[in-house]
Amino acid sequence: MILFKRASELHRYIEEQHKNELQAGFVPTMGALHAGHLSLIERSISENDITICSIFVNPAQFNDPDDFKKYPVTTEKDIDALERSGCGILFLPPAEEIYPDETYKTETYNIGHLETILEGKFRPGHFQGVCMVVSRLLKIVSPDNLYLGQKDYQQCMVLQKLIELMGAEKRIKLKICPTLREPGGLAMSSRNMRLDQKERENAIAIYDSLMYIKNHISQKTIRDLKAETSEILTNKKFHIDYVEIADAISLEPVDTWDEKRKIVALIAAFMGKVRLIDNMMIQ
Ligand code: PAF
Repeated sequence: MILFKRASELHRYIEEQHKNELQAGFVPTMGALHAGHLSLIERSISENDITICSIFVNPAQFNDPDDFKKYPVTTEKDIDALERSGCGILFLPPAEEIYPDETYKTETYNIGHLETILEGKFRPGHFQGVCMVVSRLLKIVSPDNLYLGQKDYQQCMVLQKLIELMGAEKRIKLKICPTLREPGGLAMSSRNMRLDQKERENAIAIYDSLMYIKNHISQKTIRDLKAETSEILTNKKFHIDYVEIADAISLEPVDTWDEKRKIVALIAAFMGKVRLIDNMMIQ
């Protein structure tokens, strides 16, 4: 695996690969890699000539400074895992390579209603920070394919919108990959490392709630489903940000379901100080 720390060097290297008509797959991460990340790398390797993974804990996307401070950093382990996965290139930039001056702070991204609903509502500024870093990364890496996990469902929609805002939708294809789960159903996440044993057991309630919605959608009203799952979560000591059932394409919340529409259930909740999110396609 080749390790790049300088944006210009990586960019030049990838330009060379493009000249040789090699196709590049890109997996952006914030490190603390788990099997979910590695499944994205694996998919990219199988679909591209070269695979680039980036590790950069992006301060601009943390609305809570404490969450940023406590974000797990396991760089040595990550490098080992990437080597073993067969990933060709790791981009591990220092902050000044991503944000060389203050101009990034003046850029805003018009992502429409995605900015203010669900994650946008509870984490103000989060998606602007995600767009900032990903637009910079996409310019440096210029990939043909971008791999993201479905666990961050709204982020996938935001980044599809970003690709369009950059006028790159013909050049960069977004590939959304399935969420990987622990044996009990807990969605894999770097934040799971911060849960103790008891919290980890309780955290399965998010998956149980999503399954409950999926299994009862044709028998119960959406209002009842949201109330019942909120109770399941509260009983397991979760502090809920939202339990929502939304149109899978627009992400607008739905009150009733006509059986034709594709819908998705989404949950964000705190277990202690750790904020977890998950989602499931319902129909
Ligand atoms: O999903 C993540 O880990 C981050 O939001 C991303 C896409 C790497 C941008 O920092």
